[in-house]
Amino acid sequence: MTDAAVSPPVRRLSDWDAAELESLADEYETPLYVLDLERVRENYRRVDAAFPDAEILYALKANALGDVLRALREEGAGLECASAGEAQRALEAGATGADVHYTAVNPPARDLDWVVDAWADHPELTVTAGSEDTISRLADRGYDGRLCLRVNPGIGAGHHAKVRTGAAAKFGVPAERAVDVLEDATERDFDVVGIHAHVGSGVSSDQLAAHREFVARMGDLARRVDAAIGGDGLEFVDVGGGFGVPYHEDEEPLDLESVAEATREAIGEIDARLAVEPGRYFVADAGVLLTGVNTVKRARETTVTGVDAGMTTLLRPAMYDAYHPIRNLTADVDTDGVDSSDAAVREPIPQTVAGPICESGDVFCSDRDLPASERGDVLAIGNAGAYGYEMASQYNSRPRPASVVLDGDAVFLSRRRETVDDVTRLERETRTKRGPRTDDR
Ligand code: LLP
Repeated sequence: MTDAAVSPPVRRLSDWDAAELESLADEYETPLYVLDLERVRENYRRVDAAFPDAEILYALKANALGDVLRALREEGAGLECASAGEAQRALEAGATGADVHYTAVNPPARDLDWVVDAWADHPELTVTAGSEDTISRLADRGYDGRLCLRVNPGIGAGHHAKVRTGAAAKFGVPAERAVDVLEDATERDFDVVGIHAHVGSGVSSDQLAAHREFVARMGDLARRVDAAIGGDGLEFVDVGGGFGVPYHEDEEPLDLESVAEATREAIGEIDARLAVEPGRYFVADAGVLLTGVNTVKRARETTVTGVDAGMTTLLRPAMYDAYHPIRNLTADVDTDGVDSSDAAVREPIPQTVAGPICESGDVFCSDRDLPASERGDVLAIGNAGAYGYEMASQYNSRPRPASVVLDGDAVFLSRRRETVDDVTRLERETRTKRGPRTDDR
């Protein structure tokens, strides 16, 4: 067991063993996600050490692979679920109802139906509602279980406008309405257990002031809610996730201790437990995406290195202009131990690494200096453990990649590669069941 205090705060792409990754690419083919469970555990323990008194939930939207959920459950994490599907996966991975917090964002009826059904068997689960309407829709279904209110604190932070939620009208009940809403919910016999907010994702150390202000508002609100609802008062105050990770090689890791200290100070005296729910922080640097070089083309303005992964495999660069480190494993293995003056050393040249999807946004980097690529090389894209596979799609009828898990000395295929057959199966099944055309379609 690795001691949290000594596990490095970040694992860089250069820390991965190039020969081992190349041999995985060889055996399981590319594109391939590789995830190291021991690193996931290390990341969890670092958060646990920084927030020793807090309840720690894993936001499984970052990576819902069953092996990840089981590993984090064993470490003691609860699970923050963004949909009924995620809640189902959490329970299937062995979570108890008490571990499950379902955060309902404009929840479809079938999500609420599923959750209320699941509540009958798991009365300890918690539903976090972000609107009064959602509370009424729960009541309509007979739900009066554990209720947490997501509030909109009016402060957003994060790595990109598309992931700053704290001030976006879509999320949460305006904080100034929270006391009234929770008084009302208490009168309607809900078991009001918490308040919740999430300012955004990928929050960095330089956004600590915003974090502090946000947490102070949550502390104030908790004290007002406690005074208003009576009874046992609030059980927890959940300040969301969003802990950033360094995607650039020269970026400093987040100072978790400072974040924890700022959180404790800013929240003040509350008669409730603090809860945090990071996703990215646990899994980002535990994962890499391996991709093979198909084509090397000298274009007018750059060299295009065509690879077999694309925006359908890892969407973040196309969606958020996100930076991910890229390493040519083959070049590294070939030149390992070779003198830098040797002809085998490949000179870096500016390259645009592009996927096979018919969209100009389907590039992982533009004009980045990388060792000259050759057809057949294997590249590793770093920090791909969070929001990688989860955001993958089958666009262009590209089956999603396989996922391999490393666990100590063990290596196993955790999820097989999809096939085109998988992509078309639903269509085929549907067609065989369709009856004759009728007039009342
Ligand atoms: N809690 C709630 C209610 C959330 O909505 C999220 C993320 C989290 C916790 C976890 O945030 P994290 O610790 O992972 O930053 N696809 C984007 C990120 C979207 C995050 C959405 N919500 C990306 O790849 O950067």
